Amino acid sequence: MDLTTTYMGLELKNPIIVGASPLTATIESIKELEENGAAAVVLHSIFEEQLNHEMHEMDHFLFKGSEDYAESLGYFPEVTLSNLESEHYLDEIVKLKESVSIPIIASLNGVSKGGWIEYAKKLESVGVDALELNITYIPTDVEVDAQAVEQLYLDVLEAVVQSVTIPVSVKMSSVFSAPANMAKKMSDAGAKALVLFDKPVHVDIDLEELNALQSIHMSSSQDLSETLRWSAILYKKTEASLCASTGIKNHEDILKAMMSGADSVAMVSAIMENGAGHIKTTLEALEAWMEEKEYISIEQMKGSISLAHTRNPAAYERASYMRVLTDYRY
Ligand SMILES: Cc1cc2nc3c(=O)[nH]c(=O)nc-3n(C[C@H](O)[C@H](O)[C@H](O)COP(=O)(O)O)c2cc1C
Repeated sequence: MDLTTTYMGLELKNPIIVGASPLTATIESIKELEENGAAAVVLHSIFEEQLNHEMHEMDHFLFKGSEDYAESLGYFPEVTLSNLESEHYLDEIVKLKESVSIPIIASLNGVSKGGWIEYAKKLESVGVDALELNITYIPTDVEVDAQAVEQLYLDVLEAVVQSVTIPVSVKMSSVFSAPANMAKKMSDAGAKALVLFDKPVHVDIDLEELNALQSIHMSSSQDLSETLRWSAILYKKTEASLCASTGIKNHEDILKAMMSGADSVAMVSAIMENGAGHIKTTLEALEAWMEEKEYISIEQMKGSISLAHTRNPAAYERASYMRVLTDYRY
């Protein structure tokens, strides 16, 4: 059975990448993931704040510091990179590259391009195989329009892409008003892959403390819906590879992701809940299913139920599909 797949130019032995999380925070844990069959890992993120940069300062500099947004978008303060956190991350990568042979993708999490360029170069020099950018910016200012926010993403991406030779991916949010167009813009700006999607942190309200809360959301297969929709819509629409992230819990979710059009999947919650051995049992179940249905490779099923190939395109195209709603009986 051929489980290999190509993702952002990396040859992977199977589609399972372990996503950025505490699972990928130590060498011992990553070795265990590799032993159980993980094809690649995305390291736990290094955050912009860890590179001495405060998010609220960026908010101020980007959108409130000037009446002219275009001008303020071009202004990025200097960042000092010589702190312990960022140096430690680099040291760990050097040791990690000596300990495992699967591709290592480093994760940069932030919203400015100041400082990232220098740090991205350092990451490349210590041997990471690729970079994943997590640029989740929440535009809380009603005066900030979609174009300014999109330009922020593109500026960061372009700055990083131009400073390294390794492939760069973007972990996307699904809340753009035109996600397909934004995906194309990011691909055109040099993103070699798009990770669909990022939203592990949920908002809630504590009724005892009467305060807003943030908590980590452990996903379920129910969370796969938007990932499948956009993977199906984006299949072969841009040059970028696609990674289905959020809601990949078992072999059936992987099959669905591949058929919708993804090139790889990222798994976190399922492994945190069941241990590294879950990767092995998932791969076994994947092979068994493929054998039973007489598939010979992952490549063969990619995009077979994408928007371009499904018999039921309305399932992806209409958020409120009349037949599903009107046929429902209770
Ligand atoms: C405890 C935890 C920590 C995470 N830390 C990061 C992180 O540092 N950077 C990041 O980009 N994503 C982070 N994520 C998000 C995951 O990489 C992944 O995108 C998300 O959990 C969806 O995958 P899943 O459905 O398999 O859990 C984290 C998720 C969890 C559960």
